[in-house]
Amino acid sequence: MKIRLSSKLVAAIVLFSGLASGALDSLPAFQQRGSQKPKRTSSLLINPDAQPDLPTAKAATAAASAAGLNLDDIQGDILQKNQELFYFFSIANATAFKPKLASEILPLITTTTELLDVSTQPITVLNIAFSQRGLTALNVTTSLGDASFAHGQLADISTLGDPGSTNWVPQFAGTSVHGVLLFASDTVDNINDAVSSLESALGDSITKVYSLAGAARPVAGTEHFGFQDGISNPAVTGFTAAPLPGQFVVPAGVILVGETGDTSASARPAWAKDGSFLVFRQLKQLVPEFNKFLADHPIVEDGLTAQQGSDLLGARMVGRWKSGAPVDLAPRFDDPALGADPTRNNNFTFSHPDAVLTTNQTRCPFAAHIRKVRPRADLGTPENTVRAIMRSGIPYGLEVSDEEAASNTTSTERGLAFVAYMSNPSNGFRFLQQAWANNPNFAHAGVGVDPIIGSLVGAERVITGLDPTNSNVTTTLTTDFIISRGGEYFFSPPLSAITSTLSV
Ligand code: HEM
Ligand SMILES: *[C@@H]1O[C@H](CO)[C@@H](O)[C@H](O)[C@H]1NC(C)=O
Ligand SMILES: *[C@@H]1O[C@H](CO)[C@@H](O)[C@H](O)[C@H]1NC(C)=O
Ligand SMILES: *[C@@H]1O[C@H](CO)[C@@H](O)[C@H](O)[C@H]1NC(C)=O
Ligand SMILES: *[C@@H]1O[C@H](CO)[C@@H](O)[C@H](O)[C@H]1NC(C)=O
Ligand SMILES: *[C@@H]1O[C@H](CO)[C@@H](O)[C@H](O)[C@H]1NC(C)=O
Ligand SMILES: *[C@@H]1O[C@H](CO)[C@@H](O)[C@H](O)[C@H]1NC(C)=O
Repeated sequence: MKIRLSSKLVAAIVLFSGLASGALDSLPAFQQRGSQKPKRTSSLLINPDAQPDLPTAKAATAAASAAGLNLDDIQGDILQKNQELFYFFSIANATAFKPKLASEILPLITTTTELLDVSTQPITVLNIAFSQRGLTALNVTTSLGDASFAHGQLADISTLGDPGSTNWVPQFAGTSVHGVLLFASDTVDNINDAVSSLESALGDSITKVYSLAGAARPVAGTEHFGFQDGISNPAVTGFTAAPLPGQFVVPAGVILVGETGDTSASARPAWAKDGSFLVFRQLKQLVPEFNKFLADHPIVEDGLTAQQGSDLLGARMVGRWKSGAPVDLAPRFDDPALGADPTRNNNFTFSHPDAVLTTNQTRCPFAAHIRKVRPRADLGTPENTVRAIMRSGIPYGLEVSDEEAASNTTSTERGLAFVAYMSNPSNGFRFLQQAWANNPNFAHAGVGVDPIIGSLVGAERVITGLDPTNSNVTTTLTTDFIISRGGEYFFSPPLSAITSTLSV
């Protein structure tokens, strides 16, 4: 099921534009929001060539039943990716909110099962997750057993390497974000309709604190620096029926609380089983500045034009070319056919018979983003699955204008609405950011930080290995290309917990 964004958008506008408000208004309120969720005839999920196909409903159901996984209890966004509006809210009146959580929100929550087949996909996906402050507002007294979640992301600011909170969205640095509603669809109109309908149902039990609109870019699947994203997500036992070559196969418990492989299960309350921690980060990307850096520092190598040298530098910073082709398999030039082939584009370990794994950076720098956050063979085989995260983010902000590109300076904010799910944030996201990406001595002494997401609290970053002709050459990055605007740690509960615990 390869769905091209452009045709999908057109189809959706034609098929659904007249439906949302007019047609639905004639239905009784309960049917609008409850048992009669309107269904669609074309998928709302994007599926660029470079990304693995989603399992068919049949394959996923079979895998889930073999692994004892209840896909009906798991919120849909956890295992999939799409476009969305992040609606951060504060619970203004918990007494009023609780019954509405059960009667108005729960019936609209999209499960993993529902997303797998176009015939069961809603017009607009709704998922919900709560911060610790939100759970506290709901009088949930059992601890989720994770200190970083309990303290909130702001308390983690130095752990994550953010240079203070001055760049943070003020709402993330405040105390009022109790939860996030994630709306996903293929048109802004669909999302706006879903938001206003839910807002009127919830009345003044909640207030909107902040929102961020994510939108797929014109080249589906790319982030704002222009690289295909979402290629390498783990294959979850019980969901991914047939892992692709090189895909990180992880037990369900690495992503879902309380499932096999969740090493922290004993610390979590029973109601949290099949939920997942949702790490949200608004990561601003300085695209003209990044492009200028590449233009100004092309890798100089026989047979490469300046443009090719700049492209190679960018690819080595990420570890993949814009097409998604890994530099480990395509070390000198992009290979779009490789990038677009999910059976080949993730099939590498950084290990080669003609290269010493611990010293040779000819193919891929140790500091490359994808090698920092998933070192594959660098840490030995088999890989430790405890570090895996399920990324489900989406770009936000406008495309770079011609004027902006010419000025080499970002004038309008854009970036990545980073979303990652895992059963233990300290093993997953926090570890990848702090112990790996921000650590100049990982995986080997002196290699430098991750040139994409690595942060030394704003200080300049010295990186080795970017020049394939001589790994002794150091590259100094005087500025960061990604500015953290903050975020929050949330918990995406299983649907059953809403009934059993959160709404009572
Ligand atoms: C704006 C910020 C970011 C950008 C532009 C970015 C970009 C990318 C790109 C282009 C890829 C390669 C495509 C793929 O394998 O799916 C990738 C992979 C990945 N990124 Fe990021 N990323 C960002 C932030 C982060 C953060 C904050 C983390 C976690 C701390 C992270 C973790 C990962 C992981 C785990 C992979 C897959 C590695 C693999 O399995 O080979 N990324 N990212
Ligand atoms: C929360 O608990 C307190 C103390 O038991 C109680 O007074 C209050 O009504 C509860 N609030 C909600 C929304 O359940
Ligand atoms: C909160 O909601 C409850 C139930 O709707 C209502 O009785 C109460 O007056 C509200 N409290 C405030 C402060 O508005
Ligand atoms: C994956 O890589 C291995 C080892 O390099 C190779 O033997 C195999 O043919 C590759 N698989 C595909 C589908 O390319
Ligand atoms: C490093 O690896 C490359 C390609 O894998 C190989 O051609 C080269 O000979 C290696 N360099 C050294 C010094 O072994
Ligand atoms: C932008 O950067 C490019 C590459 O360094 C340079 O050629 C150009 O003059 C710069 N433009 C401005 C307005 O500084
Ligand atoms: C890199 O540095 C090491 C250690 O100083 C040295 O042995 C090696 O020859 C250098 N390599 C190159 C290509 O300059």
